[in-house]
Amino acid sequence: MSPRRSLAVLVVTTCATALGSSPARPQDPEAGRAVFAAKQCARCHAPRGEPGVGPALEEIRRPQGQMELAGRLWNHLPSMFTATIGTGAAWPEIGAAEMADLMAYLGADGARDPAPDLFKGQVTLLKKGCLKCHSLRREGGPIRPDLAERRADYESGAAWAATMWTHTPRMAAMAVRRGIAYPRFAGDEMANLIGLLRSASATAPRGAAPGR
Ligand code: HEC
Ligand code: HEC
Repeated sequence: MSPRRSLAVLVVTTCATALGSSPARPQDPEAGRAVFAAKQCARCHAPRGEPGVGPALEEIRRPQGQMELAGRLWNHLPSMFTATIGTGAAWPEIGAAEMADLMAYLGADGARDPAPDLFKGQVTLLKKGCLKCHSLRREGGPIRPDLAERRADYESGAAWAATMWTHTPRMAAMAVRRGIAYPRFAGDEMANLIGLLRSASATAPRGAAPGR
């Protein structure tokens, strides 16, 4: 097995073990502090009183749910997009393990996410315009994936945030081209939406939504 392949297996195993409420390895806030510095977050988010174009560190670092923070990270993409891609700088990649540490540093804990309200999740799915691009069980837009596909990242706030972090720049670019307003998330909306998608994927007929 190549190192790359065994790493992939390790990551998948880690996600799978994280399916329950307890993560496979304790998230490390100190490692998260290093991620925060390495990914340039500190460039825009400085401690209160120091210059920075984003909200002060103390404002983004507080007790919160992981899905809630995933929603906040999703929200702040357009302003970061302008500041990175817009200036020719590379978009910082953040893997799932790094994201878990980063979330621990920022005070996010999956245990603080509420049990999802599936009805509200459905409303959120429509309101946020996901189906203008994607389908749910083949109803909606043409962009893959179908959101009822089974995904490990629906099971963990950190894994979901990492996926969204990597892909939102592309989504945002498409939203601009198609004149779709970039959706923002508040409160429990992300937790409810992912709860809905997880439940849709768990009951999706096998083979109806082929994997990527
Ligand atoms: C180029 C500057 C810039 C960088 C780099 C940056 N941010 Fe931000 N961030 C902002 C601005 C500006 C806002 C407030 C405006 C907004 O929410 O869109 C913000 C808002 C936020 C929020 C609150 C969003 C909300 O909806 O409450 C969080 C959390 C956050 N950033 C985390 C991070 C993390 C983590 C990183 C590093 C991976 C990072 N930021 C990197 C500029 C930046
Ligand atoms: C403007 C179009 C657009 C909208 C709106 C949109 N997406 Fe996407 N989405 C994309 C594109 C484009 C990709 C493919 C990105 C790529 O090439 O990797 C994608 C990829 C994804 C992926 C796969 C990421 C991966 O790494 O496997 C998921 C999951 C996803 N979107 C969920 C959502 C959800 C949930 C919403 C609503 C909150 C949403 N998308 C709204 C365009 C959109």
